Amino acid sequence: MMTSNEIRQNFLDFFASKNHKIVGSAPIVIKNDPTLMFTNAGMNQFKDYFLGNKKPSNPRIADTQKCLRVSGKHNDLEEVGVDTYHHTMFEMLGNWSIGDYFKAEAIAWSWELLTDIYKIPKDRLYVSVFEGDKKENLPSSQIALKEWSKLVPSDHIVFGNKKDNFWEMGDTGPCGPCSEIHVDLRSDEERNAIPGQELVNKDHPQVIEIWNNVFIQYNRKADGTLEKLPAAHVDTGMGFERLVRAIQGKTSNYDTDVFTGTIAEVAKITGKTYTFGDSKQDVAFRVLSDHIRAISFTIADGQLPSNNGAGYVIRRILRRAVRYYYTYLDYKQPLLYQLVDVLSRQFENVFPELYLQKSFVEKVIREEEKSFLKTLEGGLRRIEDIKVTNN
Ligand code: SER
Repeated sequence: MMTSNEIRQNFLDFFASKNHKIVGSAPIVIKNDPTLMFTNAGMNQFKDYFLGNKKPSNPRIADTQKCLRVSGKHNDLEEVGVDTYHHTMFEMLGNWSIGDYFKAEAIAWSWELLTDIYKIPKDRLYVSVFEGDKKENLPSSQIALKEWSKLVPSDHIVFGNKKDNFWEMGDTGPCGPCSEIHVDLRSDEERNAIPGQELVNKDHPQVIEIWNNVFIQYNRKADGTLEKLPAAHVDTGMGFERLVRAIQGKTSNYDTDVFTGTIAEVAKITGKTYTFGDSKQDVAFRVLSDHIRAISFTIADGQLPSNNGAGYVIRRILRRAVRYYYTYLDYKQPLLYQLVDVLSRQFENVFPELYLQKSFVEKVIREEEKSFLKTLEGGLRRIEDIKVTNN
């Protein structure tokens, strides 16, 4: 079975072979863009290239980007841990064309990588195409449809509206129609009963989007209007944890080797067992193994937990994790900081910033946990006192 590290490397090697320059992930915390607190997509660091304000040294770029979607336009926090495929921090594998290749190459290469290199069965893949939007005066994506029709049968193509098939970075900024690739990971029996086409974009936990190919051609301005950009670009983003799950044949992202290391560590520390189900205890395992990534990597990127802005978002994620282990794993001491070691070793060669600052990150997390546990216990004691007084 391909490991997650091999899967990531195959992506980068594939696009390097198509003359892309491989670059590093930008920090997860954004300091110089008032429209965004955290990196929410691989394209953020290239925004000025799309707008035509700057020129890259190579018009073809690829990377894996640390992203966080817990605030603003893209916010998944409450789903995390409850379901098996949303995350706070996730890696987005991406390839970009800055005014260079366009739909035909982007579509053909995404198909080649998924089916030839990763060997995902073709009959499990579905693609979506933008149907257009009259109000915004946007045409349907005829070129994307033509390119996909060369590769997939018509019952594997679905048409999507502006909500699903027109990608925007935020309230303002580069945007354009997109074509998503979804994978159907259900059993053959289920697939025979209901065709996957009917479940695309319907929140089915086993029929999930893995890759979004955006064709950036517009800039959404502060007054809400769309301005056509001087050049057309490609911006793709593939959810790494979902891709690994599809390739490793798992029904949950948390059953892949991206998460099993931290889940095993939580089991070792608490003495509890992860049973792959929907109990609160299982949700707690998933919440911890997800949240420790967001917390550790944002601190390693220079954002300390605090009472406002980006720091407050981190504090909220950390406190959500503490409440879960305190309540459902019956663990009453700092736990999260104990996971940093395993995590930092897992990502040593991908995002070395965590490994290099391991003891600092552990210390910050431990202090935060200690102070929040004190608050939690104080609150519970007060509730007990009120109960005693009222009896
Ligand atoms: N920017 C697009 C997304 O985040 C594709 O990378 O889905």
